[in-house]
Order: sequence, then C-alpha cells, then structure tokens
Amino acid sequence: MNAGRLGQAILILIHLAISHKRKTVIRIAKRKILVTAALPYANGPLHLGHIRSTYLPADIYTRFQELFGNDVVYICASDEHGTPIVAAAEKAKKKPGEFAKGFHDKDEKEFKQLGFRMDIFHRTSSPENRELTQKFFENAKKAGVIYTKDVEQAYCEKDRRFLPDRFVVGTCPYCKSEKQYSDYCDGCGKALASGEILNPKCLVCGTTPVTKTTKHYFFKLSTLSEKLAGWLKGNPKLQKEVVNYVMDWIDKGLNDWDISRDLDWGVPIPREKSLVFYVWFDAPICYVSSTKAWADKHGKKWEDYWKSKDAERVHFIGKDIIYHHFLFWPAMLTVAGENFQLPTAIPTRGYLNLEARKFSKSKNWFVSLEDFLKEFPPDYLRYYETAITPYSVVDADFVWKDFQQKINNELVANVGNFVNRTLVLIKKLNEGKVPRGKIEAKLEDAIRKAKEEIGKDAEGFEFRNGLEKVLALSSEFNKHLSEKEPWKEKDKVKCDECLYSATRGLTAIAVLLWPYLPFTSERIFEMLGIDRKQIRWENVEKELLKPGTQIGEVKPLFEKVTDEKIKAQEAKLVR
Ligand code: 2FM
Ligand code: ZN
Repeated sequence: MNAGRLGQAILILIHLAISHKRKTVIRIAKRKILVTAALPYANGPLHLGHIRSTYLPADIYTRFQELFGNDVVYICASDEHGTPIVAAAEKAKKKPGEFAKGFHDKDEKEFKQLGFRMDIFHRTSSPENRELTQKFFENAKKAGVIYTKDVEQAYCEKDRRFLPDRFVVGTCPYCKSEKQYSDYCDGCGKALASGEILNPKCLVCGTTPVTKTTKHYFFKLSTLSEKLAGWLKGNPKLQKEVVNYVMDWIDKGLNDWDISRDLDWGVPIPREKSLVFYVWFDAPICYVSSTKAWADKHGKKWEDYWKSKDAERVHFIGKDIIYHHFLFWPAMLTVAGENFQLPTAIPTRGYLNLEARKFSKSKNWFVSLEDFLKEFPPDYLRYYETAITPYSVVDADFVWKDFQQKINNELVANVGNFVNRTLVLIKKLNEGKVPRGKIEAKLEDAIRKAKEEIGKDAEGFEFRNGLEKVLALSSEFNKHLSEKEPWKEKDKVKCDECLYSATRGLTAIAVLLWPYLPFTSERIFEMLGIDRKQIRWENVEKELLKPGTQIGEVKPLFEKVTDEKIKAQEAKLVR
C-alpha cells in the first residue's frame, strides 16, 4: 500500500468510527481513475486488431470501475499529426487537417457503435493540445533535457523540402519489396533505419533525394535512465513481462530522442520557422489536454487526475508502442514539473492476426470495423475478442470459424439459453409472474464467489478470466434447471423456489455481463422491466425482481451465426 492509499484507508476508518457513533450513512471515498486508450492515427479505417488490443479492454475496465462506483474517466483522441497523415492527405488532395477530420468522425461513430463509453474523443490538433505541448517543451528545456544538433536529412531539390520518415519510398533491403516507406517495410514487417532503404525516391515527385544538414531538437532520454529504471522496478502494477524487456533496453543504453521534424503540419516548435514536434511528442500530451477539455466542460479539475498522488492513471496500449509509453512518456512526465504524476499501470496486449496472417489493407487481408458491424451485433465482437485475449503481449488469431463456434456454442448456447429458458418456464409454470421463494444456498454462494473473483480479475486486467467466470455461473444455473426439472415438479413450493433462484441468477449474470456486453446486459434489464440504473455492483447479490412482477414479452437474446455468413466473410479474403 503506498502512502496515498494508506492515508485514504485511515480516513475511511476514522469516517467509519465517526459515522458508527452518529449512526449516519457510511460513504467510502471513491477512487479517481483516469483511463486512456492509445490514440488512433486518423489516416485509415479501424480494424478488429485495434479493438482487441486497446479500446475494448479499456472500455471493459472503465465500465467495471463505473460499476464499482468509482470516479472514472475514459479519454481518447485522434492522433492527427505525423508524416503518414501528411503523405496520405497529399495523395487524397486534401489538407492534412481536413483529411484527418474525416477519419476522426468515422472512428468516433464506430467507437460509439461498439458501445465504448469514452468521455471525450478529442484531437491532437486541438488548440488545447498545441498549448500544452509547447508548455511541456518549455518545462523540459528548463529541466535541461533539450538540446539541438545538426542531422543529415533526405531533401528533395525539386519540391524544395525535407523528406522526413514516410516521404521517402524505395526498395526494402531485406525482402526487396518495392514502393516501401523508408522507415518501415509492409512486405516483411521490418522497421528500417534512416538511410537503409534502397533506390530512395521522393514520395511526391519521384526524384532521387539528396542529403542536407538541418538543425533538430533532441530530448536527453539517456540522462533519465536511472529514474526510469527506479520507477519500472518500484511499481508492482506494471506488467512483469513488459518491464523485463524495457529494463533490457535501459541496460543496453537509451539513445537520445529526436523530437522535431521539418514539416508544416504539427505543433510548431516555439521560435522555429519550419520545425514541428515529432508526432510522438505531442500525442501522449493529448491524454492530458483531452482531460482538460473534458474537465472544463464538466466543471471538474483535470489536475485532480494528473497531479494527485491519490488518483490512478491507466494507459491501455498495444505492444508496438511499449517504448513510447514505458520510456518516452514517463520521461516527459518526469521533467514536466508541476507535480505531474507517472502512470499507475500500462496494460499491454499483443497483435491480432487474421486467419493466421497479419492484417494488411493493401493486400486485402483485412476486416474493417465498419464491415464487421454491418453483419454482426457489436456484442459478438466484444465477446469473441475478450474470449481470445489474455492479459499478455502474446498475439492472437481472429478465425471466422472459431468466431462462429464461440458465439454459437458459448454465448448463445449458454447465456442465451439460460435467459430464455428461465423466462419461458416462468411464463409456462407461473403465469408469467416471478414466483415467491428463497434462493438456494448453493446458488447464492456461487453468485457471491463469482462476484468476488470477477471483481478481482477486473482489477488485475484479467478480463478473459472474468468473462469465463460469468459463463461458468450461467452454466451452473443452467445445470440447476436441468437437474431440478421444475416442469415435472408436483410440489408448487419447490417449483417456485427453483424458478425464483433462477431469476436471481438472471439478474446477477445481467449485471456481471454489463462491462463485457453492455448491449446484451441492458436488453436483459429491459426485458425484465428493471431500470437500467439498477446495474450496480452491490446489486449482483440482491433481489432485483420482486415476486409477483409480471414478465413482459420474451424474445430470444441472440441469433446464431450461420454457415452462410461465415462463408461469405471467408470468401472476402483473397488468399
Ligand atoms: O501507434 C499509434 O497508433 C499511435 N497513434 C498511438 C498514440 S498513443 C499516444 F498518444 F501516446
Ligand atoms: Zn521488406
């Protein structure tokens, strides 16, 4: 327990003692939790891989914290700067800001369709972010970690401009794929060092670039190695497997970081004519500026989340951006001054492949979120991706047949069946009214245990384990119905007791499902005629359906995924 937590615990105890004496209602202090999900680049459609590694786990965590009654905020924004966006905008004959706005709006809409409850979806090109980025820079300068140095850069004499990162294309020196960007080969997936690409050409006009000297700004990452190592080793909430290889990078020696680019799209570097910040400098700062934009709108204080030792900051990311979040970002926060606090946890997950191959839009090996949502309900994606995602950096595979099998044999056959069966039996055996009864002790125990363990899994970011336990609870209630066979029971009291117990399972499962499958959970509540506000953690074990309540029309919760639908999806992938 850190000092802040200890203080909070003592306060609660004092509060408890006083309220016991006064016989007043006890209020336990809420935790303040800021959740962020890595900002999507606004230069292409979201695909199923982005959802699995980052946005879905962040949403599940946020919903659990909301369910627990904590003060939680979910922050995200479009990442709109950087050379890939400038290059793509030029191709589309649009201004970068206008081009990025198109994807910003599209991403925001699709996130909503998936039920992500982000409190704000902001933009790195916003005035708040520009202002804060420049402030971070000035503070880093005051802290003595910024210096300038001349570097050799590709330059196009025809366009009379420097060609950073993606503005140079050529042949990959490793796999010989043509038309690859100078920093990354899509053919073999290798990151390429500057100057490595063969036969380099200017992306815009095709001219062979020359090299020219230009002044760049650098961040002295190397001088912060010890501080960063101390934070990495002293923070038990950071994922061990990730800390181990970040420590390895530190042990091998960190390079200083070039934080400027010769571009005219980005956050301008103060007092420079043609330099902007590297996209990775202003992007994480947008976690803070977006919090500010949200807080200003809602009469809250953004500092409560970023500058208080009692608040928690949890960044959800994919494994390709570990370096940026475990080294760059904490380094930037360390020199930001003003009492900025470091991340509390950085849950990191691996890549998603599609039918055993990497997602690639150019090779047509791709399922966009938009296309998925045209064919299937959002909760099917939420279910499947959670079911195949451990809390780890290992990769997973999206396989259409496996998707069908998991939805049909687990979600539909287990949860769908239990909900439907319980309600149909109540209709048949008790005129559609919730019977009177007492929950059987064994089942009450099962609910209590599931609640406790699922809560622990959520705190530990183990969402797959938690979901498996909700399904196990549903199986247990299904088994109870099959064993008791209330339809054969002659004794009305016993029949009522069995059905009443089932209704308790129903509402418990509906609450426990909410962070994972909010649409399904809310539909169950709607079908039962219970107010959505009752979806609260303490209600898992309570009687939410009073005996005598009339059950409304019963409709199946899910539809099975048919073979035809799966075949159609498989046919879209050109092998
Ligand atoms: O890798 C990416 O997709 C980046 N756009 C993530 C940025 S996260 C950040 F803001 F730190
Ligand atoms: Zn290659």
